[in-house]
Amino acid sequence: MLVLGIESSCDESAIGIVKDGRDVLFAPIYSQINLHKKFGGIVPENASRAHLEKFHSLVSDSINFISQNSIKMDYISVTVKPGLVGSLLVGYNTALAIAHFLKIPLLPVHHLEAHFSAISLSGLELSYPSLGLLVSGGNTSLFILHGPGNLEKIGDTLDDAAGEALDKAASLLGFEYPGGPAIEKAALQFLDSTKISAMGMDFHTFLPDILKETSTNDLRFSFSGIKTALYYALKKKRLPSPAAAYLFQEKLVEHISRNVQRALKKTQLKTFIAAGGVLANTVLRNSLSNLCKSMGVDFQTPEKKYCTDNGPMVAAAGYMYAKNNIFPKQNFVTSDNSFEFREFRS
Ligand code: KG4
Repeated sequence: MLVLGIESSCDESAIGIVKDGRDVLFAPIYSQINLHKKFGGIVPENASRAHLEKFHSLVSDSINFISQNSIKMDYISVTVKPGLVGSLLVGYNTALAIAHFLKIPLLPVHHLEAHFSAISLSGLELSYPSLGLLVSGGNTSLFILHGPGNLEKIGDTLDDAAGEALDKAASLLGFEYPGGPAIEKAALQFLDSTKISAMGMDFHTFLPDILKETSTNDLRFSFSGIKTALYYALKKKRLPSPAAAYLFQEKLVEHISRNVQRALKKTQLKTFIAAGGVLANTVLRNSLSNLCKSMGVDFQTPEKKYCTDNGPMVAAAGYMYAKNNIFPKQNFVTSDNSFEFREFRS
């Protein structure tokens, strides 16, 4: 089965042509990072305009690829929720036009489920039930994956998403957008562990209680507190940037890993899937991998290049929906992230 996936929920205009939910044949992408850098974050109106400009060439390259290789697409899938509504509208209307042109059905895709589906691009298959962690610029949530299209949220952030906190922390540190990669790179420059423990104690005193608590079953996340701790640590302790980046990343990874450990204990699930842009971070990947090893849990995560938003993950989700007869109830785009937007057909 060949599926063409379209992603435009945030600041990546991307298409993916994928065979059987696994083999990526073509994946053109335009990242708007340079456009948003000077603002230190995404400006929604600029993002939708840039999608409008860039999808023209991405679509014509994809149509050329299809005709040059004489392949026939079976479905087109497109992210319809959640995301920036103006950006989603551009991708959705682009997908509608291609579906009419190629005379193939359109499958609306949930962005968060597409992130999880990205593991199939590494040859893995989503197994159920499993524990899912989604950590990106817009979301930080824990789910029980009961089946295709059936996700139950069991933990969410009280404030910022982890990626959002990394982007804002980078701005405090004077680093460029996007903050995650900049903080990871700066943290690598600070390797003096003796200094780290002393500075870590200082940083710790600025953390809110929810981040110090170690004995509860709380699955809620809170990242704005680590950001505030960074602010005061920088202001009062005059930490050098690499040390501050290291400590910020360490606390963020610790907090995420601790909630995952609690969720695994609580649910007793034996498969854990972690996805989303922040999973491009090696320190987080290693921490979750070590945690799963110590708990006898199977850890699955997409390849780094398929952690941040991309077209192939949307095609992979479309493939999974088509295979399981999950079709739209209604076509629309929305920032809302609930899962009730389609029906299961036998
Ligand atoms: O999944 P994604 O591409 O977009 C959303 O759907 O939100 O995630 C983008 C987020 C940004 O906040 C970015 O700073 C973060 O992922 N990110 C990283 C890394 N690469 C991207 N965070 C930590 N370490 C990285 N290497």
